[in-house]
Amino acid sequence: MFYLIHKGKHMIGVTPHSPFDMHGFGEFFAEKIKGAMKDWSELQVLDVGTGSAANAIYLAGLVGAKGKVYSVDPSREILQNATRIIKEKGLSKRIKLVEAKAESLPLENSSFDAIVTLMSLHHLENLDKAFQEFSRVLKANGMYVLVEWTAKASAFIHHLAADFLSLEQVRMMLEHTGLEVVESEQSDYSFFVKAQKKERK
Ligand SMILES: C[S@@+](CC[C@H](N)C(=O)[O-])C[C@H]1O[C@@H](n2cnc3c(N)ncnc32)[C@H](O)[C@@H]1O
Repeated sequence: MFYLIHKGKHMIGVTPHSPFDMHGFGEFFAEKIKGAMKDWSELQVLDVGTGSAANAIYLAGLVGAKGKVYSVDPSREILQNATRIIKEKGLSKRIKLVEAKAESLPLENSSFDAIVTLMSLHHLENLDKAFQEFSRVLKANGMYVLVEWTAKASAFIHHLAADFLSLEQVRMMLEHTGLEVVESEQSDYSFFVKAQKKERK
């Protein structure tokens, strides 16, 4: 049993399973994330919603020894569990865990090449604020990559269908905060979006 945060409240999870090994979607998600950037090596990347730490560990593999992954989560229990797993994998130098909410990131302006959320959006309290923060901490031309469940996935994910946003809703919110959707893909149970912070002229 462990505690994650869902829309600002503690929620009990039974097993800290990773989205990569849930319901056979892992390879698809991994490919979507990898394909979102031409070359991940040496990048400075932010993972939002640490959860099982699976995405942070996957990103650490993509950025390599000269890259760096920051992973934020407001749940201390989640971060304690992640610290242990990351240490076991020998990745403590490459992944920095930060206790924080997406809506208020204790991170510098224009400091990340990419931000990734893997099945975290439906847990956030205020998406507008979170997207504004993503835009603030991304470098010019930096990329926000998101993979999220659709409402249909509530058939096997322990959430209400109403917890999930549609691709169109996410697109409108992103463009409102200056992140331009450059690629998207809708599947039955998940969707993928790649949005770029456009350089100001
Ligand atoms: C389902 S997990 C995401 C899965 C994760 N990407 C992985 O690789 O396992 C969602 C996480 O988002 C975290 N979370 C909830 N509210 C948050 C917020 N406001 N900002 C950042 N993370 C949040 C939860 O505590 C939880 O650990």
